[in-house]
Amino acid sequence: MHFIRRRGWEIAEREATPEGVFLNRRQWVVGAGAIGGALATGAASAQEKDPSADLYPAKRNEKYVLDRDVTPEQINANYNNFYEFGSYKRVAAEAQALKTRPWTVKIGGMVEKPVEIGIDDIVRKMKIEERLYRHRCVEAWSMAVPWSGFPLKDLLALANPLGSAKYVEFKTFHDPKSAPGQRQTWYPWPYTEGLTIEEAGNELAFLVTGAYGKPLLKQFGAPIRLALPWKYGFKHIKSIVQITLTDKRPKSYWEALQDSEYGFWANVNPAVPHPRWSQASEEVLGAGKRVPTQIFNGYGEYVAQLYKGLENERLFV
Ligand code: MTE
Repeated sequence: MHFIRRRGWEIAEREATPEGVFLNRRQWVVGAGAIGGALATGAASAQEKDPSADLYPAKRNEKYVLDRDVTPEQINANYNNFYEFGSYKRVAAEAQALKTRPWTVKIGGMVEKPVEIGIDDIVRKMKIEERLYRHRCVEAWSMAVPWSGFPLKDLLALANPLGSAKYVEFKTFHDPKSAPGQRQTWYPWPYTEGLTIEEAGNELAFLVTGAYGKPLLKQFGAPIRLALPWKYGFKHIKSIVQITLTDKRPKSYWEALQDSEYGFWANVNPAVPHPRWSQASEEVLGAGKRVPTQIFNGYGEYVAQLYKGLENERLFV
């Protein structure tokens, strides 16, 4: 089947690459002033036309604190997973083809009131705040990001989910004309993710519309993506167009490709290795060091209770 093809982010870089090359590449990423600067600046000037620009920087919610420095924007903005634009990290230039206006999000399925709402109406209706969150990729690297956005539950409330809805399914846009990755038909496009209704209602589940004090750069998943800091990064679906309340557990993109390695829950746990590498520690992007990984990525006080009684599930894959 198709998914025996090697995909970049499935393997930790240090396993795939000789150490010297790995370190050089990191230093190059860190020191990517010229190229990285050009990319991020180009993206920033496109963002200046964003009709929501006046909403940023949003007031920071001081409740969510970091144990490390924020990852510099230049590094984050040039090291992305966005398979719609390529299966490698430097997709920032390709991602500029993403057209983020007009942009509509549909909320439907098991709801009292299906909603179709434009992104500019969303950001004006919701109270945008900034939160500092850690992000842990399943590939064993991490970063820390000042996201701006609002709780997922506030958007879902617009549609009044029915009591029978048990899950929330998310889908990314599907437009192979602007997203060359989507011409690779062996991938199960569009990118899909899912949460239980309880997870979606957790205060940490955050819909992101901005980062680093401005509207979201395209490579981060503009104009709206998820941040779920206790889960591996592949759950943080980008460029969302559809949200469906359902009583069936959604099958996510990576689960559909390889469910022995990527599951529905994907909660961070240093004690449960990926089948092909350890999850005990993580490379902190831009910091030149590894640190021990924490259970639920350090957010256990917010989310551990969500998993009581579910111990038979594959919670950490
Ligand atoms: N969403 C879509 N639509 N397509 C993707 O390829 N990659 C995921 C996630 N969301 C991905 C996606 C993965 S593997 C990670 S680690 C994060 O986005 C990366 O987010 P970042 O590029 O902002 O670091």
